[in-house]
Amino acid sequence: MQPDWYETFFTALPNEFWRRAAPDPQDDIAFLTARLDVPRGARVVDVPCGSGRHSLALAALGYRVTGYDISQEAIDHARRRAAEAGLDATFRRAEMRDLPPSRDADLALCLGNSLGYLPEPGLHDFLAAIAGTLRPGGGLGLDFNATAESVLPGLSGETRAMHAGDISVEASAQYDVLGSRLLSHYRFQQRDAVVEATALHHVYTCAHLIALLEAAGFADVRCYDGLSGEQFRLGAGRLVVTAVRS
Ligand SMILES: C[S@@+](CC[C@H](N)C(=O)[O-])C[C@H]1O[C@@H](n2cnc3c(N)ncnc32)[C@H](O)[C@@H]1O
Repeated sequence: MQPDWYETFFTALPNEFWRRAAPDPQDDIAFLTARLDVPRGARVVDVPCGSGRHSLALAALGYRVTGYDISQEAIDHARRRAAEAGLDATFRRAEMRDLPPSRDADLALCLGNSLGYLPEPGLHDFLAAIAGTLRPGGGLGLDFNATAESVLPGLSGETRAMHAGDISVEASAQYDVLGSRLLSHYRFQQRDAVVEATALHHVYTCAHLIALLEAAGFADVRCYDGLSGEQFRLGAGRLVVTAVRS
């Protein structure tokens, strides 16, 4: 498994599946902007923004958004959607560890279970980079489905079948014990087109993530069980974190 697998994984078919299958972003936006007290018109950085799921919805609400993503296909899609909808949002192709240190954003987002792509030194660099986009007092909102607390209690190696319109997907997960990594094997099919690819999430405990966030200059780190508002717990499927740039 190449450590930079994400440079080639996020092509048209996997991206199109995610565009069809991903949940509506409005609940994430409502939860995070309320918890972090971020008014409309505020400056938002969304990284990795993918095809603009949250960025486009935020721009439609009047936020001033810049989205960064490594996938040119996703960035092109987001730009097209913004142009079609007449939205004023900026999308740039960038590696998530290499963000302009503008220190002026009011809110930074990392959503769609994108935090675990990098091993710890890379995650450390990403958290420093995203902290560098925020003004002091700016908020961070992120989610992660691959904490040890989420992955290990319920991991099954069974193949799951998913569908989104004419795209069908078979997915199976495997836990690499010595590397503390979750390998997700996918077979995407749309008519004659087939893409087989493996995604990798480095698995971190919740406490470890809190420590990494604090080391990167974040305070008031709060860990939720999804969007329930309740504290994160063993077996919860999705960790949602809010934090404030010191
Ligand atoms: C599952 S998508 C989530 C996108 C978006 N946040 C959402 O919730 O819809 C993951 C995205 O991370 C991007 N990505 C993966 N590794 C990256 C990296 N090292 N730097 C920048 N973007 C990266 C991929 O190109 C992909 O668009």
